[in-house]
Amino acid sequence: MPQELKHEDEQALPGHVASTDQLGFIAPAKPVLDVCCGSRMMWFDKTDGRALFLDKRREVTTDPRGAEIVVDPDMVANFQSLPFEDNTFSLVVFDPPHTFNGTDSAMAKKYGTLAPGWREEITRGFAECFRVLKPSGTLVFKWNEHRVPVATVLAMTPEKPLFGHRSGAAARTHWLVFMKPNDSISGHQRPATEG
Ligand SMILES: C[S@@+](CC[C@H](N)C(=O)[O-])C[C@H]1O[C@@H](n2cnc3c(N)ncnc32)[C@H](O)[C@@H]1O
Repeated sequence: MPQELKHEDEQALPGHVASTDQLGFIAPAKPVLDVCCGSRMMWFDKTDGRALFLDKRREVTTDPRGAEIVVDPDMVANFQSLPFEDNTFSLVVFDPPHTFNGTDSAMAKKYGTLAPGWREEITRGFAECFRVLKPSGTLVFKWNEHRVPVATVLAMTPEKPLFGHRSGAAARTHWLVFMKPNDSISGHQRPATEG
């Protein structure tokens, strides 16, 4: 059974804030938002003070091989409904679950799983990431094509990535960089869509 982490006084810890249910909108003094940080494996500095780390869970668990997995976000929140004002962050990181591997596999413990309704969840996640980004702010999106082609998830946002990179032995992991449209810069608005 995963053990739930509890901080004695979350607000007294640097970067820690109470959950969205208690506070509503929050104005963090941090330029970077990681909306589903998990155990922060991709971070060079897992306590980088420029970033606010969110996840929908806070727990210590073990994978089937006994390795400990610690998910300890600054704030427990859902990326489908971020508790921040529009145009708040310079950089947002979106690395949602990408697999359907049940709930007990090592992958599922580390990365979470795609649940029924995942298409709507990712669609709302994209919309929320762009909402809380400042105009011309950067979204870094990571996706692994373990089960779902990257083109399928890219169709869940009207924004188009600027560039990207494939990584991993099988080159299935895609890192894609978007920039939020900025109405005040000529040529930087989102192209009009038909219909
Ligand atoms: C692929 S993992 C992130 C791995 C992370 N980037 C790292 O470096 O370790 C996806 C994470 O998204 C979280 N998650 C899934 N659905 C979420 C949601 N609706 N809101 C917030 N976090 C969510 C999971 O709990 C999981 O920790």
